[in-house]
Amino acid sequence: MRLIVAKDYEEMSRRAADILAAQVILKPDCVLGLATGSSPIGTYQELIRRHKAGEVDFSRCSTVNLDEYVGLPADHDQSYAYFMRHNLFEHVNFRTECLNIPNGLEKDAQKECARYDAVIRDLGGIDMQLLGLGPNGHIGFNEPDDVFPTGTHMVQLTDSTIQANKRFFASEADVPRYAYTMGIRDIMQARRVLMVVSGKGKAEILRQALLGPVTPRVPASILQLHRNCVIVADEEAASQV
Ligand code: GLP
Repeated sequence: MRLIVAKDYEEMSRRAADILAAQVILKPDCVLGLATGSSPIGTYQELIRRHKAGEVDFSRCSTVNLDEYVGLPADHDQSYAYFMRHNLFEHVNFRTECLNIPNGLEKDAQKECARYDAVIRDLGGIDMQLLGLGPNGHIGFNEPDDVFPTGTHMVQLTDSTIQANKRFFASEADVPRYAYTMGIRDIMQARRVLMVVSGKGKAEILRQALLGPVTPRVPASILQLHRNCVIVADEEAASQV
C-alpha cells in the first residue's frame, strides 16, 4: 500500500488523474472500476480536461461502477447512473455499450447481483478500481459488518450513511434504504486500487483504515492486504496518519 499526500483537493485530484490516465495510456482497452461521491469529482474533471486536450482516449475502455441505489431509475438526479453521466461519461468518449452500473430498478436482487458479477467476470476483472472512503469506513456501499461480503450484493444502508448522503436529497425520507454494491472480493481482485480521500472529516476513519486492525467493522481496512493499492489523500485527510 502506498500513501501519497497531496496539499489539497485539487492536487489530490491531479495526482489521482495522473494514475488513471497512465493506466488508460498503457492499456487502452482496460477495465476501469469507477466510484461516485464528492471525492472523485475533481479527478473526473481533470480526466475530462486531459481528454479534451487530446491526452487520453477512452474509446477502448470498459467501466464498471461500484454501486447504485435500489429503487432509483437511471434518470433520477440522485442515481449513480445520472451522477456518472453528468460528471464524466457525457464529457469524454467511452462507448455507451461499455459502461456498466448495477440496475437499481431490478427488484430481483439475486438476479441483478448474479448479472453484475457475470459482467465483471466476462470483462476479465477490473484493471484499476477507483474508490472513495465512506465516513464510517465503507467502500462502495460495503457497510461495517461482522464479515466481509464477497460478490455483488444488496445492502441495507446504515443510519450514518443515510445521514451522510441526505444532503443530496430533498429530505432524509427520500434517501433510498437499500443499494446494490460490488463486494469486497470484487474490489480486492482488482489488479490495482486507487482510493481518493479528502478533508479533515475523513482523518480519523483513514487512520483506522490504514493503521488499525483489518476488520469488517472498517471495510476499507481490507485494503492493507491489497498488493497494489495507492491512496491519494489531501493533507487534512492524512493528518492523523
Ligand atoms: C457514497 C458512495 C461511496 C463513496 C462515499 C463517500 O456512500 N457509495 O462509494 O465513497 O459515498 O462519499 P464522499 O466522497 O462524498 O465523501
